[in-house]
Amino acid sequence: MSGYFITFEGGEGVGKTTQLKLVADELRKKGYDVIATREPGGTILGEKIREILLKGDVDKMTPMTEALLFTAVRADHVEKVIKPAVNNGKIVLCDRYVDTTFAYQGYAHGLGIQKMMDLYSLAIGNFKPDLTVIFDIDPKKSHGNLTEMNRFENMGNEWLSKGLQGFRECAKFDKKRCVLMDSVGEIPEITNRIMKIINEKLGL
Ligand code: TYD
Repeated sequence: MSGYFITFEGGEGVGKTTQLKLVADELRKKGYDVIATREPGGTILGEKIREILLKGDVDKMTPMTEALLFTAVRADHVEKVIKPAVNNGKIVLCDRYVDTTFAYQGYAHGLGIQKMMDLYSLAIGNFKPDLTVIFDIDPKKSHGNLTEMNRFENMGNEWLSKGLQGFRECAKFDKKRCVLMDSVGEIPEITNRIMKIINEKLGL
């Protein structure tokens, strides 16, 4: 039996990581075999490249170099971790995936969402998440609770707001796969919201 690949996407400090752990617990309680992973990361190489991408000066590399590095380690992550797990019937929950490349490198940096889609097809092919939950938030209410800022969070509020807009654009591109979810609310309330989406979309 084939499993499922579910990704969590959205702006900075919207609670994706907290919710991913809680949703993994809920799915395990229902008896599913769940793997939690993240991007950039998820493999030894991915975690090394993560350091390079997230640390240092804002302008230490060009947007295209960023896009290529994120995509390069994504190809490794998909082949070594995600696909084998899904093929073994597991549910893979991934904290960020290609929609962040669309929103940040494609939209906020201006490389173009279509170009990033082409890059994805070239590197990864047709394999896509079964479901993507995009944590939506009003740009004016976001970026408030960031601690220990990474290179992207240091790009400034205007750039981050553009990224948020980019996620809304992504949701329009692939309405079957992407669900734009209001991420404002109490933690358990949001967990229930996500579990409902997973149930409605995938019957889990
Ligand atoms: P992370 O600490 O995981 O961010 P968060 O906790 O907000 O999820 O850092 C990952 C950073 O990398 C995040 O700021 C967004 C950025 N990123 C991209 O710009 N493009 C991508 O394709 C991915 C996967 C991440």
